Amino acid sequence: MKNYIQKHPWKVIEQGFHKDENKITESLCSIGNGKMGMRGNFEESYSGESLQGSYYAGIYYPDKTKVGWWKNGYPEYFAKVLNGCNWSGLKIMIGDCELDLNKAEIKSFTRELDMMNGLLSRNCIITLPNGAEVEITSQRFCSMHQDEIAALEYSFTVNNFKGKIFIDSYLDFDIENEDSNYDEKFWNESKVLNEEEIIYNQAVTKKTGFELGLAAKSVCKKDSAEIQASNIVIATKYISTQYELEIQSGTNFQINKFIGVSSSFYHQHGELKANAIKLAKEASSTGYDLLKSNHEHCWQDKWNISDIEIDGDVGAQQGIRFNIFHLNQTYTGQDARLNIGPKGFTGEKYGGSTYWDTEAYCLPFYLSTANQKVAKNLLIYRHNHLNKAIENASKLGFKDGAALYPMVTINGEECHNEWEITFEEIHRNGAIAYAIFDYIRYTGDDKYLAEHGLDVLIAIARFWAQRVNYSEAKKKYVILGVTGPNEYENNVNNNWYTNYIAVWCLKYCIDALKHVKADDANRFKEILSNNQFDEKETENWNEIIKHIHLPKSEELGIYLQQDNFLDKDQSPVSELRGEDLPLNQKWSWDRILRSVYIKQADVLQGLYFFEEDFSHAEIKRNFEYYEPRTVHESSLSPCVHVILACLIGMEDKAYEMYLRTSRLDLDDYNNDTEDGLHITSMAGTWMSIVKGFGGMRIKENKLYFNPSLPKNWEKLSFRINFRDSLVNIKITSTEISLKNESNNNLQISIVDQSINLNPNEIKVYNL
Ligand code: BGC
Repeated sequence: MKNYIQKHPWKVIEQGFHKDENKITESLCSIGNGKMGMRGNFEESYSGESLQGSYYAGIYYPDKTKVGWWKNGYPEYFAKVLNGCNWSGLKIMIGDCELDLNKAEIKSFTRELDMMNGLLSRNCIITLPNGAEVEITSQRFCSMHQDEIAALEYSFTVNNFKGKIFIDSYLDFDIENEDSNYDEKFWNESKVLNEEEIIYNQAVTKKTGFELGLAAKSVCKKDSAEIQASNIVIATKYISTQYELEIQSGTNFQINKFIGVSSSFYHQHGELKANAIKLAKEASSTGYDLLKSNHEHCWQDKWNISDIEIDGDVGAQQGIRFNIFHLNQTYTGQDARLNIGPKGFTGEKYGGSTYWDTEAYCLPFYLSTANQKVAKNLLIYRHNHLNKAIENASKLGFKDGAALYPMVTINGEECHNEWEITFEEIHRNGAIAYAIFDYIRYTGDDKYLAEHGLDVLIAIARFWAQRVNYSEAKKKYVILGVTGPNEYENNVNNNWYTNYIAVWCLKYCIDALKHVKADDANRFKEILSNNQFDEKETENWNEIIKHIHLPKSEELGIYLQQDNFLDKDQSPVSELRGEDLPLNQKWSWDRILRSVYIKQADVLQGLYFFEEDFSHAEIKRNFEYYEPRTVHESSLSPCVHVILACLIGMEDKAYEMYLRTSRLDLDDYNNDTEDGLHITSMAGTWMSIVKGFGGMRIKENKLYFNPSLPKNWEKLSFRINFRDSLVNIKITSTEISLKNESNNNLQISIVDQSINLNPNEIKVYNL
């Protein structure tokens, strides 16, 4: 755990350069706008530890699978989001010394991410080995207003030096993914040119043929007077505008770089160059300040709906804003072809692909803080991949339209390649069905079933019906050889969570069939025929529902994570030595698999999803059994624990888990923030507050709150977007106030009271 980031309600501040943590700070200071993003790297060259990373939505490379031993059914490739053109780069030579913080004496340094306005800035004063003192200020952003534009302003004053300096303002495509399986570069050069003082660099991905073109217009001023470029430098996959000057001590330079980005994911191949150049030109004539204020306004609009205020705990406040900020810049929901990679635009791990994280953790955030269309696009994404999911299942031997959605995907094809996950972590199918339920419960848009939802539910139900088998010994249906959400056990039989969600999917699909049949008979017929579905299929489903095996210990009063869970040594985590943790970095894999230690919520994940099926006493017993055996080595774990702990009145545990989820990256809890941020778990942090401390649920088509604030919080405030209405909620330890900020009447429940809120009305209730 680290503690060097300063606590501030709106900012992430690194005061003094923490060289050893540079990759962590680069991850923390990432910026983006849903279409592109980049890590918080320095603009000038840096020879120390760094992951230079710029990522562009939708562009990936199918890197040939690398495994120790090939198994039939493995995907051919692991899709990777590509590290692409570095547009922020500046190479600066002062005399014979390159400006490089790794080789300079640093006199003062501040790197700052302004989350309110989406700006990354830096101020520092350094001395180079040749004695020149350089004072740098920089700022940049990826525009939220025009998402194919980015801009930077870099200013430096050179003291104690007289002589020649060079500034190279470049676009570099000679980039390699850090996680490339065969140390291969994924980009081929396609066009590098210079047109009317604008440099343009376009490259094409190997195999997939995606083209990406960036144009840059640099404007350089010396002591406030604009100067002309002296040269255009062209090298392999590289182009720069170069300025070469003789200077006196005390000279100041300011460089603005205006970037236009154009990719074949959004534009016709032949149009990229013209589009990118036009954007860069327009951006430079708009000017940095206006571009920036347009960008800031967009952020204000986002914060107006999605901000959460916590009074009395600056660490918790910074934590939640940090999470909301990164969620908003990762996914804006305008394009159903995009999704939310676990690292967003902040790193390469997990390939930038889609996991069950989206449905299980991210959907509620976008449902409550954005237009309904945003969450719907996440569902449509999976509907668009349905045929691929059916193909995936058929590769594994399933038939008749059964679908197994991939564990990891970028285009619908499975690309995870560890057998215990690819073939066995099948519970992901359940989360995809659950998201349809969750979306409809929240929005009331039950037409979605007839539109797209039912197709997906039928295919998923068919998968479960084929994946179970009847055990003569148990006289029950069983699901053998699976990995549950807890990846620290593989190939187990009857993972409770998987079995529970499997039959839930069957039941939900039966309900959905009935609903669409009653609501829209013609469309129903069409769906049956498109899916070659005979309603008789549900007879078998009903048998499975009735006779599913759900492992349980009557003695302990808990659901068993899997049939043999109690055979394990049950010592809790508190009996481990500090040096054993994190297990995934300290223990051999076989030792982990045999142990009782749980990576992330598993039985508890099911109790969270299906809370209404269980009594609080049951939830408490399971929580008290499993939490002490959970190491939370998945970032997705603590948030579920917060929500359940609040429900069963374990306030201290809830708060402990909240800090762990909300400051996971800021404090580098799991020692892995340098790889990128845990974007999908950030949505879990949001849920911890709204569903945990706010106790928000949807009950009978209404918003419901049952709050319980941590002791040290004076006030918690947030807004919820619910069915075209915006509600402003303020909670203290003694009261909850609700303001209807919309033009509709709203029915809301608070604990056991039902209230009506007229437009603009405020009501306050004692807790
Ligand atoms: C978790 C999975 C998750 C993945 C991506 C893993 O560590 O165990 O549940 O889908 O990370 O976030």
